[in-house]
Amino acid sequence: MRIDILTVLPELLKSPFEHSIMKRAQEKGLLEVQVHPLRKWAVNEYGQVDDYQYGGGAGMVMMCEPLVKAIEELSKERKYDEIIYLTPDGEKLDQKMSNTLSLKENLLMICGHYKGIDERIREHFVTKEISIGDYVLSGGELAAAVLVDSIGRLLPGVLNDETSALFDSFQDNLLAPPVYTRPEDFRGWKVPSILMSGDHKKIEEWRHEQSLQRTQDRRPDILDQL
Ligand code: ADE
Repeated sequence: MRIDILTVLPELLKSPFEHSIMKRAQEKGLLEVQVHPLRKWAVNEYGQVDDYQYGGGAGMVMMCEPLVKAIEELSKERKYDEIIYLTPDGEKLDQKMSNTLSLKENLLMICGHYKGIDERIREHFVTKEISIGDYVLSGGELAAAVLVDSIGRLLPGVLNDETSALFDSFQDNLLAPPVYTRPEDFRGWKVPSILMSGDHKKIEEWRHEQSLQRTQDRRPDILDQL
């Protein structure tokens, strides 16, 4: 999968993809992430990409021209399956959406800043608007990093144990069960004995029960979707 990201703050998006699973995904050639500084398509030599909003009011708006130039130039190289705008008023990201997006070939993500991007870009170019939650970030960059991470780890071959993403929280509308590692007894707090029994069938049943219980206790709303 190839993901292009348009941003006024490319520095913010360097580190998130240089470690751990995202790094490995890129090294294995399963994921390619390219971050493009929007100022490359600025309207003047001062690097301007935003302007005052019509009708007055505080806050700048990201202009049409740099965004259109960037989108059109990048679209000459590849056909995007989705042009995504990260915005708090978008559709809320969940595991199902990440699963669906992980099946795409080429994604273009636009990070908003200030008051956001000119509405005409949303109308004429953006195909999907995504929010990572009901809170407002200073810009779309951290949201894009979250989105890339949640999609990237689902690409076949990215995780070491191919099946492990299947058991993530939310994958079956269930939260993941509790997990334990050594020592068996830490300060008198013991690991549930079933996990030491070696009975894999019983362990699976126990894990499923724990998942159900945990979901019931913490997120009954997602249980209703079963
Ligand atoms: N930009 C600012 N806040 C955001 C959010 N919650 N989700 C996606 N993009 C954003």
